[in-house]
Amino acid sequence: MSADLLIPEAVARDTISPAAYADGAALEAFKWLRANNPLGKAELEGVYPFWIVSKHADILEISRQNDLFHSGDMPTTFTTIAGDDYVRKVTGGSPHLLRTLVQMDAPDHPKYRVLTQSWFLPQNIRHLEDRIRTIARAHVDRMAELGGECDFVRDVALTYPLRVVMQVMGVPQADEPRMLKLTQELFGASDPELNRSRSDLTENADAMGELQAVIADFFMYFKQITDDRKAHPRDDLATAIATGQIDGQPISDFEAMSYYVIVATAGHDTTSSSTAGAAWAMCDFPEQFAKVKADPSLIPGLVDESIRWTTPVKHFMRSATADYDLRDRKIAKGDWLWLAYPSGNRDEEVFGDPEAFRVDRNPNRHLAFGYGAHLCLGQHLAKMEMRILWEEMLPRLKSLEHAGEPALAAGSFVGGPKRLPIRYQMA
Ligand code: HEM
Repeated sequence: MSADLLIPEAVARDTISPAAYADGAALEAFKWLRANNPLGKAELEGVYPFWIVSKHADILEISRQNDLFHSGDMPTTFTTIAGDDYVRKVTGGSPHLLRTLVQMDAPDHPKYRVLTQSWFLPQNIRHLEDRIRTIARAHVDRMAELGGECDFVRDVALTYPLRVVMQVMGVPQADEPRMLKLTQELFGASDPELNRSRSDLTENADAMGELQAVIADFFMYFKQITDDRKAHPRDDLATAIATGQIDGQPISDFEAMSYYVIVATAGHDTTSSSTAGAAWAMCDFPEQFAKVKADPSLIPGLVDESIRWTTPVKHFMRSATADYDLRDRKIAKGDWLWLAYPSGNRDEEVFGDPEAFRVDRNPNRHLAFGYGAHLCLGQHLAKMEMRILWEEMLPRLKSLEHAGEPALAAGSFVGGPKRLPIRYQMA
């Protein structure tokens, strides 16, 4: 392979290493890649070779061609060869522990997506606004009660989106702590502070074994909900999933439960991270806090910019179904590609001063929600709930600053702040 195509090992390692997303090394690696090898190939011991797609335009070009770049033929999120072997062994050959929308391609994908698509449309979720505002107010009140100091992640950002998505799903409030714990274990599998065994799972097969146990717990929980909604249909998302039909046949229990898992997990961890990212950024950029406080019409801009700045989904993988030329490179049929969303969202060709946090960035063409057929189903809900929280919070928040060392979670798939001590005054 020609030297200019191959990505230096240290740079490739900072792309896949969970720790590199906690200490900033991944963003440095992406900056280097955009400048020196925007579409290069990584060859590392123990993993299949893969392309790292670091430019905004290329991520869009690949994401929108869903027939040419499949989500389901190879692992949809990065794993080692040992991890992949393990999954294929336990699943009887499939590279996926779950079968959710993100692992599907046409013709199945559109059939499953349509089951819940209308639920997530802006005109449908509008009716949730009052309920969400009540949850937001309770969180703002709680922050006021905490008396001027809190860990914004623990006390606000984690529970607020969780309560919203559980309402949407129809999960009883009493079960929320259990869901929160399971979600953290699922998405925080590579962070020793968040995973189930509280250990450093350097062996990918161990991590996969742990994930499998967490998924089994999710399934057990949602099986009860599926059975209940089949017997007693209601006007909630759980009913739409449990009673959904594919080609005239009822959706299988396994697929219904995979569906719950993606909505329940994708629905809150990402939004929690972006909400905490907004608070972190407003501490780092106090003039932006002042600006949005003075002009609440900038709140939607604050929301979009915090999603860009945090980019809670770090990557998804695709594999090529045919040879494809891009940026003078030849992607071959079967090649595996890493879509580096945080890199696309800091691409200097698209965003002026990409490291800066600007609530009035306009246009803000971030790709944190992906693009193409898999474009995030929950994007309107995510933006609506974040907007409502800041609409309730900002008029009461008189000051905001760091009160200790914040920390990002280690994770190369999904993540954001895991600790954010803040000091504040509230009216
Ligand atoms: C800031 C918050 C969020 C971010 C950054 C985010 C990001 C993403 C991304 C990047 C994808 C694309 C996957 C791919 O291309 O393979 C996706 C898909 C998805 N998201 Fe989100 N998401 C967020 C919030 C939500 C919420 C609130 C929900 C639901 C309540 C949700 C549900 C989904 C679902 C069901 C999919 C799969 C769509 C498909 O494959 O057709 N997301 N999300």
